[in-house]
Amino acid sequence: MKYFPYIFLTIFLVLIANADRQYKVATKRFSDKPIISRKIGSNFYSNLYAGIYTFKNEYGLIVGTWNDTGYYLVNSKLFYFQNGTISALPTLNNMTLAFPKDTTNYNSGGNNFDSVSFFNGFYYLLYDETDSNEYPVLAWAKTDNPFSNNWTRLGHIFPDSAKINTFKSSFLWGTKENALPMHYLFWDDTSAIYYETSVDGITWTSTSTPLLYPRPYHFDSDSIYVGTIPLSLKTGDFLFLYSAVNSDDDRTRTGWTILDAVNPTIVIQRGNESIMSPKLDWEQDIYLTSIIPDPYGCPSDVGDIIGTDFVSNAECFIGVYGIYEIGAVRVVSSWIDNSSSSTTPSSDTCADVDSTCPSMASQCLLSAYQPIMCKYCQRNIVGSLLGYV
Ligand SMILES: *[C@@H]1O[C@H](CO)[C@@H](O)[C@H](O)[C@H]1NC(C)=O
Ligand SMILES: *[C@@H]1O[C@H](CO)[C@@H](O)[C@H](O)[C@H]1NC(C)=O
Ligand SMILES: *[C@@H]1O[C@H](CO)[C@@H](O)[C@H](O)[C@H]1NC(C)=O
Ligand SMILES: *[C@@H]1O[C@H](CO)[C@@H](O)[C@H](O)[C@H]1NC(C)=O
Ligand SMILES: *[C@@H]1O[C@H](CO)[C@@H](O)[C@H](O)[C@H]1NC(C)=O
Ligand SMILES: *[C@@H]1O[C@H](CO)[C@@H](O)[C@H](O)[C@H]1NC(C)=O
Repeated sequence: MKYFPYIFLTIFLVLIANADRQYKVATKRFSDKPIISRKIGSNFYSNLYAGIYTFKNEYGLIVGTWNDTGYYLVNSKLFYFQNGTISALPTLNNMTLAFPKDTTNYNSGGNNFDSVSFFNGFYYLLYDETDSNEYPVLAWAKTDNPFSNNWTRLGHIFPDSAKINTFKSSFLWGTKENALPMHYLFWDDTSAIYYETSVDGITWTSTSTPLLYPRPYHFDSDSIYVGTIPLSLKTGDFLFLYSAVNSDDDRTRTGWTILDAVNPTIVIQRGNESIMSPKLDWEQDIYLTSIIPDPYGCPSDVGDIIGTDFVSNAECFIGVYGIYEIGAVRVVSSWIDNSSSSTTPSSDTCADVDSTCPSMASQCLLSAYQPIMCKYCQRNIVGSLLGYV
């Protein structure tokens, strides 16, 4: 009798492990107003693309900007409160990011900001430079303090001789947490998204292996661009957002994919509809280029964004998007097991039975708390129980 609950739990967990997950991703703008714009204090005509970083419990933004004299990367600070208020400084210190010049002219790259990511104590910036023929090439830089404006230029990712004309790119670093045995670089030439792998995270060869193409008769029928850094979900799979254009109205929208936990070059799901389109008068195209986990978890009304069926597995992110002005958006990802409704976790299965879990059983039953903590507890149980199966 004593073992009965464990047997039950094991059956439940094996079903979950084999679940046929149906993912869903949705967005909701924080407000109708941009957070960075010439109209609200920016010196730049255009604030094109932005990436969020976290440093010592503060949020920063690297913003790719444009004015009459060229393209610049600037640093900014982001403020975000639990009540959903989000804002940013137009720039942190009126300084543009500078890298020691090589033979390149880093200012005239065009679409200059790609992504910012963190790995092993360093922040990595992917951006555009131009080669000696004014040809845009993918470059990178690193720093241990992104607020310092002291970046070390690492040069071009691919040899100039490869003549690879990239538009947007992002890294997926292999870490202890995601258990990936290597590092990944995603990039596009607007006609496809490709990936590269690297074991040392320093050398990247240009194999141009395709990952995603435009799809006829969809919102992404014409061009496709890398969007965000792939982020780990609690299932272990990765959420990877991209930007795409269709021929009907020539507008850029946001699409979503889920990449496989073990081999992130396998796209296990891809949304048929875009999750964000230009809607407000200041939005002409949507380039959702960066998301980070929401430090406050999901809001209590997350069901209004993702749908009530999906609330129990919801994970929430904050994101920034351009183009011309920078806005802020909430991104929600979730899944249901659609192979058998009986394996869908209910609040009954959400009791805190794992002594290693810091949450209290009573907290697990709070609807606002449940999506964040209970699933996490269950994952701990999955790990420890599967060891005995
Ligand atoms: C454009 O921005 C750069 C960097 O802040 C600044 O040096 C330059 O004066 C600006 N040009 C104009 C026309 O505002
Ligand atoms: C949200 O919280 C911040 C910080 O406490 C405060 O400055 C702001 O006025 C609040 N906004 C609303 C709408 O309550
Ligand atoms: C930033 O630069 C602009 C023009 O380039 C200037 O008008 C403004 O006063 C500067 N702001 C600060 C805080 O130095
Ligand atoms: C900038 O970073 C380099 C390399 O990490 C370091 O040697 C240098 O002291 C830093 N400079 C400043 C002003 O912090
Ligand atoms: C997209 O549509 C195809 C064909 O109708 C379907 O097989 C696929 O499951 C859909 N994808 C999602 C994520 O709903
Ligand atoms: C489960 O999801 C897939 C992919 O969207 C769909 O093709 C299938 O019909 C769904 N199955 C059930 C039982 O709803």
